[in-house]
Amino acid sequence: MPTLPKLLFSVMALVAADARAAADPQSYAETDKVRVSALKLNLEVAFKSSQLVGTAELTLDWRDKTARTLKLDTRDLAIASVEAIGADGKAEPVKFDLGSRDKILGTALVIELPQQAPKVKIGYATSPQASGLQWLPPIQTAGKKHPFLFSQSQAIHARSWVPLQDTPAVRFTYTADLRVPEELRAVMSAGNDPKHRLTGLFHFEMDKPIPSYLLAIAVGDIAAKATGPRTAVYAEPSMVEKAAKEFEDTEKMIVATEKLYGPYRWGRYDILVLPPSFPFGGMENPRMTFATPTVIVGDKSLVSLVAHELAHSWSGNLVTNSSWKDIWLNEGFTSYVERRIVEAIYGREQADMEDVIGQFGVKQEMEGLAPGDQVLALKPLDGRDPDEALTEVPYVKGAWFLTFLENAYGRATFDAFVRGYFDHFAFQSIDTDTFLAYYKKNLAQKHPGKVTDAQLDAWLNQPGIPAFAKAATAARFEKVDAARASWLAGKTPAKDIDSGKWGTHEWVRFVEGMPEKLDEKQLADLDEAFKFTGTPNGEIAQRWYPLTVRSGYAKARPAIETFLISIGRRKLIMPTWEALTATPDGLAFAQGVFEKAKVGYHPITTASVTAALEKAKK
Ligand code: BES
Ligand code: ZN
Repeated sequence: MPTLPKLLFSVMALVAADARAAADPQSYAETDKVRVSALKLNLEVAFKSSQLVGTAELTLDWRDKTARTLKLDTRDLAIASVEAIGADGKAEPVKFDLGSRDKILGTALVIELPQQAPKVKIGYATSPQASGLQWLPPIQTAGKKHPFLFSQSQAIHARSWVPLQDTPAVRFTYTADLRVPEELRAVMSAGNDPKHRLTGLFHFEMDKPIPSYLLAIAVGDIAAKATGPRTAVYAEPSMVEKAAKEFEDTEKMIVATEKLYGPYRWGRYDILVLPPSFPFGGMENPRMTFATPTVIVGDKSLVSLVAHELAHSWSGNLVTNSSWKDIWLNEGFTSYVERRIVEAIYGREQADMEDVIGQFGVKQEMEGLAPGDQVLALKPLDGRDPDEALTEVPYVKGAWFLTFLENAYGRATFDAFVRGYFDHFAFQSIDTDTFLAYYKKNLAQKHPGKVTDAQLDAWLNQPGIPAFAKAATAARFEKVDAARASWLAGKTPAKDIDSGKWGTHEWVRFVEGMPEKLDEKQLADLDEAFKFTGTPNGEIAQRWYPLTVRSGYAKARPAIETFLISIGRRKLIMPTWEALTATPDGLAFAQGVFEKAKVGYHPITTASVTAALEKAKK
């Protein structure tokens, strides 16, 4: 029989283990002890040294009365000073210690406080290699005259430019004062004024609590153009007109989403178009989506990106995954809402085509994924780099699951449920179990017999796509598939294919459905008719170049080199890098191209390409 103290001890140990398991394994923060509730930044944006230099003042919400330690996340920050600020406003230097550097997590900044101070102020500078920042020299901008800086904080890169609790479980408001070169404009994921004059000084306020991964900054030769009463595009001057035209439907999208899910709660919704090295398609920084220029193709065919980032204003920015294992709550809901926006503005056919392409992509990707990575409710991502663990599964399988629920309960019922869910958890961070409990109470129990527990389990916890899932179909793709089949059978030469009305999606489908390899004559026939090699459309290039590589079509190599050097968006270029690494000759070519490409790449893209090349060398 265990003695009482022993029993108590083991119960306490269990509780402690549980609290640790529930915490975010990708942060050093001890959120049960203390939480940052507000951040005040005061930074100089020093292009000369590629550094942010200044102070971060953190307001603390102490949860555990006995706690005296504040553990923050940092990566490659030079910490100059730490002060505790008392209730009387007096600052006292305090002891701090930097732990050892973990490759994925970075370095814990451990601050010992004599008492529970209401605030701490940290003096620091970022590294020129900060993983969350890209400092572009003028040559890498469209205008070639001014440097450019932008951040990408998701998933765990905010810690490389601000010392903080870098976990989506914690929310804080922020203000920032920035000093920048006088000819440049600064923007942040906060209140931005398109008419702000260039004075070298910018003040920002974000009065709604946000998680750290939504902290964002950009500085450059940035112009603004209004596209509606609460929307504008920001871009380098030479891009701004084109961007405004491409994104002219943004206000319509906001109105459509509000009709479905309630008011847009963030004030303005602006879009910043970045230089082509931006490593993602888009990033839902509140009030200011950051976007790749590769979606500006002139015919609005890729503006579902805006629908997606806008949708995050509800799914993600209002209701947030509490750690990255539950990212489907962010990206699955967002992809579902994106689809609904596209359907409302551009019609069912457009939405269907996007679903078919998404489902094709995730099925293909799943073939190479471990079973544990094919589920929505992922196990804790201990020891993993969330950038490398990111797949299409949370996006496409997540949206597919929600479409399944929509069909099971009926659109009207399901729409009301989703709206209630966004309201109920607004400005909170939750996990899959919390979602499930809410779902059971507010949907399943009110409408019993529509969805079984086995079905829920299949979506959330089983690998692959459930056998009972209904696949998307798109009428417009039937013609594309028929045209491809006829061409492959040698019945119709490429130039005779009736492709006059095809948009990006049809072209993507046409190329994606090709066999593993084609022969040189076939590739040349396609090139002659459609000019795929050298295409300015990144979505087509993403599929065409790997096909040419697998087929050994050397003629495409100069264009591949240009493509890989000029674009840094990971999703578009990784398939080509990976295809190249499959043969020794391709790998040698890839290594040569990487030598030239990497100076222009963002740290996140460099990391992915390096990993792919290393894997091939082994
Ligand atoms: N929030 C993501 C980007 C992201 C996810 C960055 C995880 C870092 C870690 C953003 O909303 C996104 O999903 N962007 C997509 C575009 C979208 C249309 C699917 C992208 O970048 O391709
Ligand atoms: Zn997203």
